[in-house]
Amino acid sequence: MTVTIIGSQLGDEGKGGTVDLYGEGADVVVRYQGGDNAGHTVVVGDETYELSLLPSGVVRGKTCVIGNGCVVNPETLFDELDALRERGLDPDVRVAERAHVIFPYHRRLDGIEEEDKDEEVGTTGRGIGPTYEDKAGRRGIRVGDLLDEEVLRTRLEYVVPQKRAVVAEVYDKQAGEELDLATLFETYSGYGERLAEEGMTVNCGDYLQSRIDDGDEVLLEGAQGTLIDIDHGNYPFVTSSNPTAGGACTGTGLGPTEIGQGEIVGIVKGYATRVGSGPLPTELAGVEGDTPGYEGSEAQRASDHEAAQPLSDAGEREEELATYIRDEGGEYGTVTGRPRRVGWLDLPVLRHATRASGFTGVVVGHIDVLAGLDEVQVGVSYDLDGTEIDTVPPTTEEWGRCSVNYRTFDGWPEVDWDAVASEGYDALPENARAYLEFVESELDTQLYAVGVGPGRDQTIVLENPTT
Ligand code: GDP
Ligand code: IMO
Ligand code: MG
Repeated sequence: MTVTIIGSQLGDEGKGGTVDLYGEGADVVVRYQGGDNAGHTVVVGDETYELSLLPSGVVRGKTCVIGNGCVVNPETLFDELDALRERGLDPDVRVAERAHVIFPYHRRLDGIEEEDKDEEVGTTGRGIGPTYEDKAGRRGIRVGDLLDEEVLRTRLEYVVPQKRAVVAEVYDKQAGEELDLATLFETYSGYGERLAEEGMTVNCGDYLQSRIDDGDEVLLEGAQGTLIDIDHGNYPFVTSSNPTAGGACTGTGLGPTEIGQGEIVGIVKGYATRVGSGPLPTELAGVEGDTPGYEGSEAQRASDHEAAQPLSDAGEREEELATYIRDEGGEYGTVTGRPRRVGWLDLPVLRHATRASGFTGVVVGHIDVLAGLDEVQVGVSYDLDGTEIDTVPPTTEEWGRCSVNYRTFDGWPEVDWDAVASEGYDALPENARAYLEFVESELDTQLYAVGVGPGRDQTIVLENPTT
């Protein structure tokens, strides 16, 4: 059996925590897409682990695999491994030979292109997009290539002059050490040696299938959220891979039947957050007529600017509310430290995610963060150009034009969440249960767990698919 964990919103839903929770019953934990742009948090007692590349199963000492659908920065890989070893863990990490390698020139190009664009995406700057571009352009260098000096040299000799030309001739910039062939060869063949010495590389699909055939439980960890999926997200404000369930097949080499016969668990934060640019219809923005962070086209920006009003009382209240939720929930980027934009839970987003990945269950977290508010709102549908719709429209411009229809719930009080977590579901405040049951019935899926704090023990588990 496999269990796949998927972010149902815009990232930072609490995927790392759920992988750690359900990881107890797993034998292997696999990442299937993304790279060191992720920021997954695992909290165990007083210890907090922030993982950008390694699967969150490392904290429990599970065998971890970085799948072929990932892009791997070897420097981050070894830094994270060394840091965990220094903290007393003994990570067992394998890397797919088919995974693509992030080089310093990818990071440079990520930065240059963001600067150059009118509508910057607000990337993490880790070179993710340019590495996937090279993969699709058939000029990428894969983990397996690092193990063979001849192959590595040949591939670098082809690609480095091209990238130098792009930097100099397209962007009129000076290439630096990130495009020095000799340095790149020396550093990356060194990474190849270390991968070989530590016996870290695997033929991912074969390896995972043989573990499954031996009766082992495989947990798959999506790195980003559905709304920043390159196909199902709000293009172009997306990452360059597929966090949705299809990515779990292509990103590991396990067949769709293998993934589909297992469980697919959507992770839901009890409200909405977003880092980077793009629409966030339920955003608690504080400025009427404006959508901060969504740059849109130049015309859109001009009309937004004209429509923007000084903060009214309602706007000020929204801003206070956003600040309250941001601070209570610690909504600052794990990788970049950027404050996250905050809004109400958005059901059209969750319906879209539930369909795109076929969730068999959902985990809804951050219920403690919303405690103490008089009322809590949920976006239940959108109005798009005069028509009511209940899911996310296909273009980002349309999504940006959606206004939201809300349903208001009575708030719930701050309680002793540790006690609630140990007593179970019925110990949750009544209004919180009403909120959760509404979400569950609207998505027509089962509530598998409820998060009431960041810690491993601060979750009420109703279903554990790995046991
Ligand atoms: P990921 O990227 O999906 O793994 O999520 P992040 O780790 O970026 O962000 C989730 C944040 O919320 C982390 O700081 C978690 O420790 C924290 N967290 C997860 N679940 C809960 C919860 O139920 N309540 C609270 N208060 N924090 C939570
Ligand atoms: P976790 O794993 C939230 C966003 C970036 C940017 C867009 C593209 O913590 O959920 P990229 O560097 O991937 O090319 O940036 O995607 N983004 C994330 N937002 N959480 C993440 O990861 C993200 N990873 C990328 O902010 O808008
Ligand atoms: Mg995160």
